[in-house]
Amino acid sequence: MTTTIPPVSKICCIGAGYVGGPTMAMIAHKCPHIDVKVVDINADRIAQWNSDRLPIYEPGLDEIVHGSRGKNLTFTTEIDQAIGEADMVFISVNTPTKTFGVGAGRAANLEFVEKCARRIAEVSKGHKIVVEKSTLPVRTAEAVKRILSNTANGATFDVLSNPEFLAEGTAVDDLLQPDRVLIGGERPESIGALVDVYANWVPRDRLLTTNLWSSELSKLTANAFLAQRVSSINAISALCEATGADVDEVAAAIGTDSRIGPKFLKASVGFGGSCFQKDILNLVYLCQYFGLPEVADYWEQVVRMNDYQKERFVTRMVRTMFNTVSDKKIGIWGFAFKKDTNDTRESAAIYVCRDLLLEKARVCIYDPQVSEHQILNDLEYVFTDGDNKISEAKRELIDKHVTFASSAQEASSDAHAIAVLTEWDEFADVDFTAVHDTMKKPAFIFDGRNRLKDLDLKAKGFDYHGIGF
Ligand code: NAD
Ligand code: UGA
Repeated sequence: MTTTIPPVSKICCIGAGYVGGPTMAMIAHKCPHIDVKVVDINADRIAQWNSDRLPIYEPGLDEIVHGSRGKNLTFTTEIDQAIGEADMVFISVNTPTKTFGVGAGRAANLEFVEKCARRIAEVSKGHKIVVEKSTLPVRTAEAVKRILSNTANGATFDVLSNPEFLAEGTAVDDLLQPDRVLIGGERPESIGALVDVYANWVPRDRLLTTNLWSSELSKLTANAFLAQRVSSINAISALCEATGADVDEVAAAIGTDSRIGPKFLKASVGFGGSCFQKDILNLVYLCQYFGLPEVADYWEQVVRMNDYQKERFVTRMVRTMFNTVSDKKIGIWGFAFKKDTNDTRESAAIYVCRDLLLEKARVCIYDPQVSEHQILNDLEYVFTDGDNKISEAKRELIDKHVTFASSAQEASSDAHAIAVLTEWDEFADVDFTAVHDTMKKPAFIFDGRNRLKDLDLKAKGFDYHGIGF
């Protein structure tokens, strides 16, 4: 291939989700000379991106979007037109775990990525750079290239891998000042075209370039290592509870070792989010596929430990509350998978609430950003069986045992216990004397984030239990 590549002036991003929206808003914000169009098949989502209430809650995002929208940032459902005009097309669609067929429960479902590649092949003319922004199994670019080679209009393509490392809740800061931007590719000219886009605000020494496969695999590996740290400290939290050690003290002690470092050592009720579990299961599947069962088992244990941590939390609640929570009201503080996001995908709260409901507890849920509609969807989904149906008994649990509150205090009024499942800052500012007055006694608090640990709640009369001490 000899095509020379002019500087990028028009970008199309397919997928207006948690990654496509913020990353493209940042490119538009930092590169006023580039026209950025974000497209999606979900018209509601596009309408929300064009409204005053964006579809995702992310600190600082509103300002960035409002600053560029209507200038060089457009959200639209005109997918073919945006692809056709662009010289660089990002694929930023969802890649969930497959729920059917070969690899079900582990492999990534690449249906949406493949559909994007086929659409690009169909409507493109001339030369385009196609960028994998979605998290993908190593060697996916090979399939993308093959699909793109069957194009109707004689178009030519370069394929790059540019995985995203932002974390929700800190997406804007992560995009403004990334530890690194990773770009994998084959042709220096096309890699250079994307490097030049990021170089508008990211220092060049943070722009790492690799071959395609290293880039694809680095993304899965980064998430696997991060999740492994959480599972490691959570494993130690169980041992702390059995021995009188304090997991936060252990984390601080080991975190000062510069070889270990202090980050990602916060014991919790379990990691959630759309990606850690999905990406590790995908890694497990790849290892099995490439005949490496020992490596697959090693990584699978990170997910098993996380499941154990969520189950252990509920078991501890039930045991502590005299071996029954049946018909007891439990105030659920927080439903998002971490603070500062409205995302609930794989949130530990879903599984804790499910298990409490199966124990016939009554849960009253408060989250400052997550809608009731979303929470009900999540609970219905977790209760559906293999035929996508929900039994009458489980439907009744949701209908009769789930209520919502508009504040943390309201959620705990008349409750036997509080379960803190997201570390929202506002929970530390609650009037605990007032909360205690309205709760049944003993007033139990099970803090799945150790968010209230420093507040000396025992002195305020609570029976307080955290993680790992
Ligand atoms: P998301 O579900 O929020 O958004 C994906 C969007 O793609 C949806 O709005 C969907 O309607 C759209 N879409 C699907 N198929 C389409 C098609 N054929 N044409 C047009 N639009 C289509 O997903 P997300 O959280 O943004 O994640 C996207 C990818 O980025 C995933 O691979 C994920 O693993 C990865 N990732 C996510 C995060 C994160 O924080 N959420 C961080 C890093 C990487
Ligand atoms: C994670 C990675 O941090 C990002 O780099 C990556 O881009 C992203 O996944 C992705 O690929 O989707 P995210 O899931 O948004 O980002 O949030 P994290 O801050 O990583 O937290 C994940 C989960 O681990 C949360 O439930 C959080 O509460 C939990 N966690 C995190 C802990 O329990 N303890 C910790 O010390 C850190």
